[in-house]
Amino acid sequence: MEVAIGSDHAGVQLKRELTTCLTMDGHTVLDCGTYSEDSVDYPDIADKVAGEVLSKRILGILICGTGVGISIAANKIKGIRAALCHEAYTARMAREHNDANIVVLGARVIGTGLAEEIVRTFMQTEFSAGRHQRRVEKIAALENKMERRF
Ligand code: RB5
Repeated sequence: MEVAIGSDHAGVQLKRELTTCLTMDGHTVLDCGTYSEDSVDYPDIADKVAGEVLSKRILGILICGTGVGISIAANKIKGIRAALCHEAYTARMAREHNDANIVVLGARVIGTGLAEEIVRTFMQTEFSAGRHQRRVEKIAALENKMERRF
């Protein structure tokens, strides 16, 4: 599976570790940066990963210190459903019920082992559709409604 990954400076070490883990699992990892501990702005990284997710129709992974800033930024982008997950149950539900296309992690909140479990769960789980399809369509309708309003 192809997956896009990106982090700000706070998440760069966890990004490296997850990239190694995913590559060993046989995935193709598209690294959207950042590539060093030098300070960067997380919205720029959210923008890059979201672009890959939308244009290639793949899943994405975003990391910042808490996961909060980068998930807020990603969820401003039309078509992105980014889920901040700090345990595997939420990651599974985010795919099954919400058709989330990006999983977000806080590198200063959880350790590498848990982050790997969350990412694996997210990537292995399919959207259930059914009654959840209508709700996801209503999220898209909200995006369009907001566009018309402002
Ligand atoms: C960077 O210091 C930090 O603010 C950022 O990684 C993130 O936690 C923001 O939500």
